[in-house]
Order: sequence, then C-alpha cells, then structure tokens
Amino acid sequence: MYAQVIETGGKQPKRPDEMSAEEKAFMQRIENNEKIEPKDWMPEGYRRTLIRQIGQHAHSEVVGQLPEGNWITRAPTLERKAILLAKVQDEAGHGLYLYCAAETLGVSRDELIERLHAGKMKYSSIFNYPTLTWADVGAVGWLVDGAAIMNQVALQRTSYGPYSRAMVRICKEESFHQRQGYDIMLKMARGTPEQKAMAQDALNRFWYPALMMFGPPDSDSVHTAQSMAWKIKINTNDELRQRFVDQTVPQAEYLGLTIPDENLRWNEERQAYDFTPPDWEEFYQVINGYGPCNRERMDARIKAWEEGAWFREGLAEYGRKMEAQRAKVVNA
Ligand code: 3HC
Repeated sequence: MYAQVIETGGKQPKRPDEMSAEEKAFMQRIENNEKIEPKDWMPEGYRRTLIRQIGQHAHSEVVGQLPEGNWITRAPTLERKAILLAKVQDEAGHGLYLYCAAETLGVSRDELIERLHAGKMKYSSIFNYPTLTWADVGAVGWLVDGAAIMNQVALQRTSYGPYSRAMVRICKEESFHQRQGYDIMLKMARGTPEQKAMAQDALNRFWYPALMMFGPPDSDSVHTAQSMAWKIKINTNDELRQRFVDQTVPQAEYLGLTIPDENLRWNEERQAYDFTPPDWEEFYQVINGYGPCNRERMDARIKAWEEGAWFREGLAEYGRKMEAQRAKVVNA
C-alpha cells in the first residue's frame, strides 16, 4: 500500500499502522497522484522537507548566477555576451519562482535568505567551483544545466502543486541554457588546438562536480526514502546520476572530448555506462563550507543583500503609497 519503499541509508517513512487518519488520507492522495496545494492539510514533515528542498533550490539559482556573471564583461563577442546576460537573468527569475513556491508553505523569502546567509541552509555544491576560462562557461551550460534539467524534468511531477508548476517553466528555460553551453563547447572543440585543449580542461574540472550535483549515493542519502514516499522526489540520486552519465557520454564523443574517467565503459548487460563515482569526501567538504569558493560566494551574496537594502525599502514604501491611494479611491 502507498508509495514504494526505497532502501537508503536515511530515515524510513512511517508504516501505515503508525499513521494517523489524516496522514493515511494524505498518503492516499499522494498515491492517486493528486497535487497537494498550499491550503490542503499536509504532515509537518512534508512541509518542512519542501521548505528545505525548494529553499535550497532557490538559493542555488541565485548563487548560481555568480560563476557565470563573472564572465559577462569578458564574453568573446557581443552575441555571446547578450546570450550569457539573458541566461544569468533567467536564473534570477528561477530563484523568484522558487522563493514564491516556498512562500506558499508559510516561510518568507527574507527568512530563507537570512538562513542562507547564516550558514543554516545549503545551495548546490557545484557553485563553489571557480570558472577560470571562457570554456568553463560552456562546460557549466552543458554539464551543470544539463544535470539540473535531468533532475528538474523529473521534479515537474513532484507532488506539491506550486513546486511542480514552477518546474515546468524553469525546465523550458534550462534546456536553452544547456544548448548554449553545448554550442560554446562545440565551437571550442572545433577551434584551434589551444581552444580544444581549453574545452578539454573545462570538462576535466567540471565532470565530477557535475556528478556530485545529484547528491550523495543512495546508500548515504538522508532524505530520499521519505521524499520518495511523499513523491517530493520522483527518482533517487543514483538513478538520475546514471541517466546523466548515459546521456552525456555520447555528447562528449560528438565533441571529440574525453570524459576524465579511465573506468568509463558501456555495460551491455545493464544497458548503461559503468563509471568511477565522485570523491564523496570532497563532496562533503564542499557542502559543509570548505569548497574552493564557498566563502567568496557567500561574501558576494551578503554584500549584494546589504547594498540592495535601499532598493527593497524604496519598493516597500512605493507599495505602501499605492495601497493607501487605492484605499482612498475605494473609500471616496
Ligand atoms: N549540493 C549541496 N547540498 C547537497 C547536494 C548538493 N549537490 N546534494 C545533497 N545535498 C545535501 C542535502 O541538501 C542534504 O542536506 P540537508 O539535510 O542539510 O538539507 C544532504 O546533502 C543529504 O542529501 P540527500 O540526498 O538526503 O538530500 P535530498 O533528498 O534533498 O537530495 C537533491 C538532494 C537531489 C539535490 C534534492 O534536494 C533535489 O532534487 N533538489 C532540487 C534540485 C536542486 O536543488 N537543484 C539545484 C541545482 S542547480 C540549479 O538548478 C541551477 C541551474 O540554473 C543550473
């Protein structure tokens, strides 16, 4: 009965005999693939898990602007600059949709941002790696946005209505992002030997951080079992990572680039690639604040937040004035 049980290292969901009548009715709705909407009854754990995941996701979109924003002034042509600018602006928009989705669960955007700045919330590990060359912008679009889509296409079917609808819109834009990254890689891989070497170097540095985006192996994943029982997550971390590898290897071959993994091999029996897993020690270092750029990223976000205070106050004041004017008209 109810959603499938996934064996992971984390906490297992309640059995039906441990559930209250409300929880059972809720699980039945999940089982029927009904969307849960903000005013519906939901278990407190479901609400908290969503705030954590959607909040982290929103933070990732916003912090994710930094590594690429770094290259807007140095893009090689006017066209590349315009495309990159549009992409970075899209990420800000994605952050906004997601903060709005989180707000429907009873947490304000300011609260979420405060928790991020206080180090109490995470954002995706990937954005703690530096973008050293223009080829890195290509690798980020191709691999990072490619990994993000792999995860987000599945999340379009997540059980919480506002999150699911935000994902539909975000996925459309992410696929453009992935293609612009691949297009940069293609240009560089077919360019001069130096350009091809830059593209290879970017792939070498971003491959494993991209694989880490899917989270720890299922055996160590704290939340997967419960999140899948609630259909917040549709796939496990390892399933999506495998799908990403299977999709990306032929793309690298087409570019004439080599995935930096000597053990990468097509497994006829599994109909999937075997590959060397990421260095999980490094992953935990990065998500616990000790990656190459963690401090730099947080400093930049806190500075932007503080320097933007006058603008937020101005907007709020404008809102108050408009509200007062509307009240006058209504009462006249
Ligand atoms: N980076 C940072 N933290 C990570 C992580 C990563 N790549 N992967 C896992 N973690 C954290 C989890 O948040 C959790 O920590 P917490 O308990 O303090 O919150 C811990 O590691 C254990 O991991 P779990 O597997 O138990 O966690 P989840 O079940 O939440 O799975 C996830 C992790 C797959 C990332 C899931 O949260 C998810 O699907 N999130 C939505 C997608 C998302 O956040 N994407 C961000 C990518 S970037 C992006 O979209 C921007 C685009 O423009 C490129």
